[in-house]
Amino acid sequence: MYDFKIAATDKATLYRDLAAALEALVAGERDEIANMANAAALIFESLPDLNWTGFYRNVGGELVVGPFQGRPACIRIPFGTGVCGAAAASLEVQRVDDVHAFAGHIACDAASNSELVVPIVRDGVLLAVLDLDSPNRARFDAEDEAGCVALGEILARAI
Ligand code: SME
Repeated sequence: MYDFKIAATDKATLYRDLAAALEALVAGERDEIANMANAAALIFESLPDLNWTGFYRNVGGELVVGPFQGRPACIRIPFGTGVCGAAAASLEVQRVDDVHAFAGHIACDAASNSELVVPIVRDGVLLAVLDLDSPNRARFDAEDEAGCVALGEILARAI
């Protein structure tokens, strides 16, 4: 059993604790599905106000849903479509305060209002995107983005 106590109230400490927990969770394990599954659960449990957290994997130039927590989601997303597809096509983080104002947003869960998508890249190749959805508008700020980019860097070595 893993019982990480991540309850910091300030975001800097929260993301530092979360990164340390993720490092510990994936240490020594090379199975990417196992590591994505545990990462999705850890992040979903540790960060407040999320309704979906998980991965879309780059499978032959198309995003295919991977391990996640939340409601069942759309399975395949072309590069360039929606928030995840924009992150995959540009290799840039997408931080969207209001998904309803994002052209092409794919509504997998009607409860979602804001979204953060982090590309996970190793040696210049997109492996997957980490997707966080929230029912709150503008849930993610620059600190969340930096914290999740750091998580993505850990995952780039673990998946
Ligand atoms: N909203 C995403 C699709 C994935 S779900 O949020 C799980 C998008 O527009 O890419």
